[in-house]
Amino acid sequence: MLCNDEMRKGILSRLHGYRYEHTLGCERAARLLAERFGGDVEKAGFAAILHDITKHLSPQEQLNLCAKYGIIPCNVEKSEPKMLHGKTAAAIARVEYGAPEDVCEAIACHTTGKHGMTLLDKILYLADYIEETRDFPGVEKARELARLSLDRALLYCYDQTLTELIARGKLIHSDTIGAYNDMIYHGIRWRE
Ligand SMILES: [Fe+2]
Ligand SMILES: [Fe+2]
Repeated sequence: MLCNDEMRKGILSRLHGYRYEHTLGCERAARLLAERFGGDVEKAGFAAILHDITKHLSPQEQLNLCAKYGIIPCNVEKSEPKMLHGKTAAAIARVEYGAPEDVCEAIACHTTGKHGMTLLDKILYLADYIEETRDFPGVEKARELARLSLDRALLYCYDQTLTELIARGKLIHSDTIGAYNDMIYHGIRWRE
């Protein structure tokens, strides 16, 4: 077993307020998506409960964890250290909870996406976006697409995320562009 009840309780006890509710929602969504699309339900749930374990940390604390675990931030991540919470959470998952590499990788790329995502990577990314406590324009469309196709739903998430980042004048991580291009190269379109 990847994560027994005691370990799960220990992980959840590190999360508070909205993040606790979001994480439970993400766990439910990840397990459901794994069932729907033939993924590993246990790994999806384990990745979900750990994915935001470092999100409460300050930018400096994110950078400190990067130094500790040998994560080298790119220029975009240096400007927006909160973006590093996926990579730092993956390090915690590996070192403190013995998570397998594929689970750590899904956690590491849940914030930005990346080129060549695995089924587990996609499940966690989408679960994080559509879980039940999320309430923003477009989330219903993402949930609707997630009932039909993992890839179409995922492309919709990237589309929305990129559009919003541009509208807000924010930096775009190269991995997000890589993730988007990968879908487009493969002929995925979210519109019919
Ligand atoms: Fe996150
Ligand atoms: Fe999250």
